[in-house]
Amino acid sequence: MDRFRTAVGITAVTLLVTGFLVAPIPPLAKEPPILPGISPEKVADYVHAIIQADRTIYTTLVVTRMQEKHIVNATEHWEQDNALPLPAQFLQHSGKIVAESGRGIRYRLIGLSPIYQRNAPATEFERNALAALAKQPDRPVTGIVSSGKKQFFQAIYPDRAVSAACVSCHNSHPLSPKRDFKANDVMGAIAITIPLD
Ligand code: HEC
Repeated sequence: MDRFRTAVGITAVTLLVTGFLVAPIPPLAKEPPILPGISPEKVADYVHAIIQADRTIYTTLVVTRMQEKHIVNATEHWEQDNALPLPAQFLQHSGKIVAESGRGIRYRLIGLSPIYQRNAPATEFERNALAALAKQPDRPVTGIVSSGKKQFFQAIYPDRAVSAACVSCHNSHPLSPKRDFKANDVMGAIAITIPLD
């Protein structure tokens, strides 16, 4: 009986193994595999890291270096002055080119007391985010906003007065409505908008 059981067992295993081996290979799935997505928070963080790196490189390796060597200054009216654009203008211009690329992603510098009204918050969400960052600047303020039928993810990152030049230029600019910025203040924010479709 025992031997019979063993023989049946071995046959079953053999059948299973060979059955498995000769089983037809399933046809390739037509649907692409579902890959784990990247969260919009992550995408905004990546974009923010690149914007900040480019801005730092432009400020330190181009603007500050050229000014220190008395080769060329950065001025607001750089075209007429044959000078370099200010780092804030560099960021706004690159943001404009990205917006014009039609991908739906946008970024810009905004402030509650902007030198130019065009840099004022454009929505209630941006206004509230700037107010929140002035009190709690450790993390970006994020949220979903809609424009027409489309939904966007927005991340608003604090922009702090990291050098004395930030404070002195903004406080003395003829169009600046605020003249008491101090070192390390949150002067505004980088607003990054990503389409969610
Ligand atoms: C030499 C002058 C100058 C310096 C230095 C300067 N800015 Fe500005 N900043 C400007 C001008 C001019 C604009 C407006 C640019 C535009 O939209 O054309 C601006 C725009 C901004 C904005 C958008 C809101 C607004 O006020 O229009 C923020 C935020 C900002 N700057 C933060 C900073 C920070 C932080 C630093 C230092 C790391 C800094 N700025 C250094 C002149 C300056």
